[in-house]
Amino acid sequence: MPLRILVVFDSRTGNTRKVAEAVAESLQADLSPVGEAGDPRGYDLVVIGSPSMSSLPSPAMRRYLQEHPGLGDYAAFFTYGAPVWGPVSVRKALAWMEAMIGRAPLATFRCKGYHTRLRTYRGRPNEDDLLSAFLFGVRLVGIVGRRSWTQRESVTESCG
Ligand SMILES: Cc1cc2nc3c(=O)[nH]c(=O)nc-3n(C[C@H](O)[C@H](O)[C@H](O)COP(=O)(O)O)c2cc1C
Repeated sequence: MPLRILVVFDSRTGNTRKVAEAVAESLQADLSPVGEAGDPRGYDLVVIGSPSMSSLPSPAMRRYLQEHPGLGDYAAFFTYGAPVWGPVSVRKALAWMEAMIGRAPLATFRCKGYHTRLRTYRGRPNEDDLLSAFLFGVRLVGIVGRRSWTQRESVTESCG
C-alpha cells in the first residue's frame, strides 16, 4: 500500500506555500493549509511547514499542533527571512515543535523566504530553492520507507 502522507502548512505571504507545494509534489502527498487541515493522525507521515515567526512556528501552526497531540512520524520545514539570525530562529522553532510533539522529526528542511518587513531575501524561494525542496521530499520517502528506526538517520537540509 502506498504511504499516506499529509503536508500541512501555514503561509501568510506565500513563501511557505511554494515550498509546501514542491514537497507535496515529490511525496505525492495530500496538501492542506493549516486552517483547512483535518486530523493528521490517520497518516503514515505528516510534514509540517511554517514560517519562522519570532523563533516559533506560526500561531496557527502552534494551535494546530496543540489541538492534535499524539502525532506519529513527522518531518518539518521552515522558511525564514532574518539574515544571520534566521537559521537560529528555525532551530528554536524546531525545538518548540519537538517538545510539543514529544519526539524528534525524521527530517528537516529550511529555506530563505522574502521578509516583507525587513525586505530581505527578495525573490526567495526561487527555482533552485524549490528544486531543493522537491529533492528533500524525494529523500524523505527513502527515510520513511526504511523499516526500522535503527536504520533511519535523521536528515537536516537547507536551501542555499
Ligand atoms: C511577525 C513575523 C515574525 C517573523 N519572525 C521571524 C523570525 O523570528 N526569524 C526569521 O528568520 N524570520 C522571521 N520572519 C520572516 C518570515 O519567517 C519569512 O519571511 C517567511 O518566509 C514568511 O513565510 P510566508 O510567506 O509563508 O508567510 C517573521 C515574519 C513576520 C511577519
